[in-house]
Amino acid sequence: MSGSTITPWVVGNWKMNPMQANTQQLLADLKQQLEQASIPHDVCKIGVAPTLLALLQVKNELATDAHEVFVVAQDVSRIAGTGAFTGEVSADLLKDSQVDYVLIGHSERREIFNDTPAILNEKIKNALAANLHIIYCVGESLEQRESGQAEQVVLQQICDIAGVVNPEQWVHITVAYEPIWAIGTGKTASPDDAQAMHAKIREGLSQITPEGQNIAILYGGSVKPENAVELAACPDINGALVGGASLNAESFVQIAQAFAQSK
Ligand code: 13P
Repeated sequence: MSGSTITPWVVGNWKMNPMQANTQQLLADLKQQLEQASIPHDVCKIGVAPTLLALLQVKNELATDAHEVFVVAQDVSRIAGTGAFTGEVSADLLKDSQVDYVLIGHSERREIFNDTPAILNEKIKNALAANLHIIYCVGESLEQRESGQAEQVVLQQICDIAGVVNPEQWVHITVAYEPIWAIGTGKTASPDDAQAMHAKIREGLSQITPEGQNIAILYGGSVKPENAVELAACPDINGALVGGASLNAESFVQIAQAFAQSK
């Protein structure tokens, strides 16, 4: 069944970018592009996930009545509350700074920083307890896809969190399907392959929760203005998690426009 009644989301993941001077420029460009495009929040929700250093600056400048952009933390500590945990930022500290959204389970965190399913579950539990909305990332490697395991891997990643999300908490979960081989490589999953995986994810979610039909499932992996229209036309692709192209305000807003116009 299609999830096409879901309001699309387009979220820019800035990753470990950019330097301060470029952040200022990107913010100025984003304001200008957003004003020109003037996409209502109920037509496409637009979010930005900057570095922790820029999070509050971006929030102050873009999470305004004029721009309605929501800010997203790229990660969260597996430890809750406050305390002697050098280098960590908890879900409670994010919430306390009015940061309401967090990415959890990005493949770069899983692969480079060893975020295991057990660690991710601690992060998810704490984020939900702090009333954050989670964008939970899943995706298979090239090797897994080539050996025919893509679906099984992704559905397992969905099942991994089922034990820590209470039935009433699924409304606070958005899923991002990001095939690892498509991230930063210029290779995008074809709209047919992406739609097929999104439909499977929706089926998997629907077996876990009646909310499954309403959960936004975003696609990520080399999304650009050139492929956004085709991806946005797929019934179970409810938005995009954009890396590289989100560092260019014009490209990012064009992607948001593609989703705003498609649904
Ligand atoms: P790219 O759009 O650069 O491929 O990155 C995708 C991504 O990882 C977003 O979280």
